[in-house]
Amino acid sequence: MTRHLLRDDDLSQSEQDEILDLAVALKKDRWKLKPLEGPQTVAVIFDKSSTRTRVSFAVGIADLGGTPLIISTANSQLGGKETPADTARVLERQVAAIVWRTYAQAGLEQMAEGTRVPVINALSDDFHPCQLLADLLTIKEHKGDLAGLTLAFFGDGKSNMAHSYVLACVTAGMHVRVASPETYAPRDDVISDADRRAEQTGGSVTLYTDPNEAAAGADVVVTDTWVSMGKEEEKLERLRDLGGYKVTRDLMRLAKDDAIFIHCLPADRGYEVEAEVIDGPQSVVWDEAENRLHAQKALLVWLLRQD
Ligand code: CP
Ligand code: NVA
Repeated sequence: MTRHLLRDDDLSQSEQDEILDLAVALKKDRWKLKPLEGPQTVAVIFDKSSTRTRVSFAVGIADLGGTPLIISTANSQLGGKETPADTARVLERQVAAIVWRTYAQAGLEQMAEGTRVPVINALSDDFHPCQLLADLLTIKEHKGDLAGLTLAFFGDGKSNMAHSYVLACVTAGMHVRVASPETYAPRDDVISDADRRAEQTGGSVTLYTDPNEAAAGADVVVTDTWVSMGKEEEKLERLRDLGGYKVTRDLMRLAKDDAIFIHCLPADRGYEVEAEVIDGPQSVVWDEAENRLHAQKALLVWLLRQD
């Protein structure tokens, strides 16, 4: 049956593990697997800007023996002119998989429903599951076994990144803390889904309004921009509301001595994170950005094997 990755909990704990193991193998031997040899084409569609996602999918698809077809919605029929389901029906006859960065999660669901090739969410307003595979790979490299580790997220708890940390880390058996003002707490349905998943994995999710409490003893400290793509009109309000959730050197001192700092990037130094933290010795953000390549290649290999 065709499998898709639309949100982080589309993968079970063992499937997530399998993909991370594959990513480790592909990082060691970059040209080991060529499932796209032919070359087969993968469509990579962008409704929003991107550097890391665009580059890592283009390079990764080429590494796997395929050809990336990068499409910008601005000059395609998708986005008001043609439905995601109709676009999917056209693409599935010519491409091996569809990768899409978009706004509404519902569009991705319609795309996946209408096609027999894997659909991958390359970031939506609700989730960023490809980033999480890279982040889990990075955490594993620096901290070993994921299960039992504590990850603390600071800032916009209702953002795509916070939602993905909640679902993916709980799937991995980790303890997730989200520190945000009450009005920026993660969506209730995401928390309920994470709680259900936690019963199977031993993970947990806890919400905090006090950043110091959330940081205490954490293994991994993480934040993301306060102004996600599509939220630009709320910029001033967000800078004011989230000002108390900046990752500072003082906050890092409350985490474990060997805690690592991660950030999906792009970063606004001086806003969600102090330059001294993101450019300091505990930061592993460049490993994290590189790992997008290895993790997404592993994801493509795995999804293509499920057909
Ligand atoms: N982290 C991330 O997805 O970066 P881009 O927006 O540059 O793709
Ligand atoms: N939350 C950010 C992530 C960017 C990779 C956004 O959606 O803009």
